[in-house]
Amino acid sequence: MASAASNIPGPARHDSQGIPMHAPGRRLTTATNPHKDIHPVPEKSHVGPDIEAYKAAHSDTVGPHSDAWWAQQARDNLTWIKDFSIVRTGGFPSAEELKEDNPNPPSTLPITWFPDGALNACYNCVDRHAFKNPDLTAIIYEADEPGEHQYITYGMLLNEVCRVANVLKDMGVKKGDTVTIYLPMTWQAAAAFLACARIGAIHSAVFAGFSAESLRDRILDCGSTVLITADEGRRGGRSVATKVIADQALKECGDANPVKHVLVLSRTGSKTVAEQHFTPGRDVWWHEAVSNVPSYCPPEVMNSEDGLFILYTSGSTGKPKGILHTTGGYLLGALLTVKYVFDVHPGDKFACMADIGWITGHTYIIYGPLSLGTTTTFFESTPATVFVSVLYLTIFFLSSMAYFNHYTRSISYPTKRYWETVSKHGLTQFYSSPTAVRLLRKLGHQHVQDHDLSSLRVLGSVGEPINPEAWNWFNEHVGKGECAIVDTFWQTETGSIIVTPLPGAIETKPGSATVPFFGIETEIVDSMSGKTLEGDNIEGVLCIKKPWPSIARTIWGDHKRFVDTYLRPYPGYYFTGDGAGRDEHGYIWIKGRVDDVINVSGHRMSTAEVESALLLHNGVAETAVIGTSDEMTGQAVNAFVTMKPEFSYDSAIEPALIKELVLQVRKIIGPFAAPKRIFIVTDLPKTRSGKIIRRILRKIVAGEGDQLGDLSSVAEPEIVDVIKQKVADSMSA
Ligand code: WTA
Repeated sequence: MASAASNIPGPARHDSQGIPMHAPGRRLTTATNPHKDIHPVPEKSHVGPDIEAYKAAHSDTVGPHSDAWWAQQARDNLTWIKDFSIVRTGGFPSAEELKEDNPNPPSTLPITWFPDGALNACYNCVDRHAFKNPDLTAIIYEADEPGEHQYITYGMLLNEVCRVANVLKDMGVKKGDTVTIYLPMTWQAAAAFLACARIGAIHSAVFAGFSAESLRDRILDCGSTVLITADEGRRGGRSVATKVIADQALKECGDANPVKHVLVLSRTGSKTVAEQHFTPGRDVWWHEAVSNVPSYCPPEVMNSEDGLFILYTSGSTGKPKGILHTTGGYLLGALLTVKYVFDVHPGDKFACMADIGWITGHTYIIYGPLSLGTTTTFFESTPATVFVSVLYLTIFFLSSMAYFNHYTRSISYPTKRYWETVSKHGLTQFYSSPTAVRLLRKLGHQHVQDHDLSSLRVLGSVGEPINPEAWNWFNEHVGKGECAIVDTFWQTETGSIIVTPLPGAIETKPGSATVPFFGIETEIVDSMSGKTLEGDNIEGVLCIKKPWPSIARTIWGDHKRFVDTYLRPYPGYYFTGDGAGRDEHGYIWIKGRVDDVINVSGHRMSTAEVESALLLHNGVAETAVIGTSDEMTGQAVNAFVTMKPEFSYDSAIEPALIKELVLQVRKIIGPFAAPKRIFIVTDLPKTRSGKIIRRILRKIVAGEGDQLGDLSSVAEPEIVDVIKQKVADSMSA
């Protein structure tokens, strides 16, 4: 294969800041695709050929046209059991409406889309495609074990979904009930989600990397009577004790445990789980249960506004929020963004490398691609395991043979899983995260170059800002300069992508998510005055002017918190919580969270959540958690901790204590939340009223301890120097 680098067409032009602007994807037409015989590509992208075409199309989807446009899209793309006569109700409340004494507060004026329409999400994702083309591959399941994969057709998926739906019904699950799903990345997770949707149950999927405590809290919050889980998960050559964690979570629910039945998928066939962690009467094996029920289950007639799923996400307080998405609007947003943002056409093989436990997995592994009737991918493995293992190894210092075995197994584990998967299946879209791209870049492009990646047309990035170095590497070494790169901005709450380039139409600039999606009206608002900022080259917070169909409807059991978090800060708008700028081309640049949310490798967590986990340690008196920028993971968790006076502690035990505290966070939240650094200090910088000043801690860790400015608000300023010294010592150790 010719050297990739020599063939890369350079960026077409630069903007006035000297930022390169890249063509919107050269592989989008048959004329420019050198591999048209092997991988058929569309004659033409859905939108294009340039930004003028986008602008014309976008203006027909916003302002006075927006409801009519969404209604047309809903009728053209979804199958309705009963057509709707009302398109939308509700909007973002004004300052007047938000007043405490308003007799009709916003909670009585909910946002609804297509409220008198009826449909079934599962029917839209499975049946209608299975009837037309039962042999079309719905799911490519690339197992963790290298070389093992499975193609699941729409016909097979319909069968499995119906059987699981019947099992759930037999377990007493009814329309409106919640079902918790704690599953690894096996394809059956799609059947579990869709079986719930089929019978009108609201699923609450919990990322399989969450701890027993996190799972417990989520089960208790939504009161599920059924839990769907697996014996074990597989990731990067390792087994994860999924069922053991699930059992622990249920035990910890105590008397309040609402779960009556546990459906257990046998992923690894673990003997230990079968013999020691299986509770007869409560636990049922998936394979046994599905073989004992009929192979068809009629889909339930659902109102467009009936709940589809709850997904817990972090906010700026310790308690995770159960974000509720409803049926018609969510599905429409998922479908349309897959179609336009990834320029999907018949015959495509779409791959989103996220986990089904996060919103990206919900929308871009399951609901979006399947509602569109395309082929989606379940990638169970990790992009590269060596790095993770070496880290793991460093933490545990080869302390036992078990770890040694783990090390030897993982070190030989391939670093090319992504690229093997792309070339083996001829994937056409590849949606990943900046952290994964940075990791792969670090490992070197030699891992990419031996694979035929010519089937790819669109490369996507999500979850955190992508730095230009990573963007350029993705473009050059994976896309060979010919793919459209889409840096997509969205959130658990937005349900689907809201700011993004559109292949074929939008020239891209590395690091910018570019323009609003169809039907989305973004505004950059001044964070202090709440006024909309006009013109270009401005910076503020990112807000949306009008509801779109896939916006979350509420926080489960706490609508006031929904209004207070998203609608009250800037009346008349939805507030994303992200800072953003707009440049001379009207392109949007996301600057990151402006609240107490940390984003580590695209995983959202609140500083308060990590602080609560640390405070559960019996020696900890106070803690302050901050996010700092990190070359690999985007942001990293740093914690400052003071110990209780009665906790006997000296510097000799500090390394052991820090290890204990890290384990504490892993145990309470999950391994992904583990602090990168913990500083044990004697006090924290506070205002006179006792509020911790995190700004000072952030600056010190960022190496800007000499730019702290005015410290007159600090109650005991001497502590600042002590902390500076402590941080300097720890960083150099
Ligand atoms: C961040 C993930 C910059 C942002 C889909 C947002 C991004 C949070 C981007 C939502 C992007 C997501 N560029 N930042 N392209 N995409 N974010 O709910 O801070 O897990 O508010 O949803 O991720 O995270 P969540």
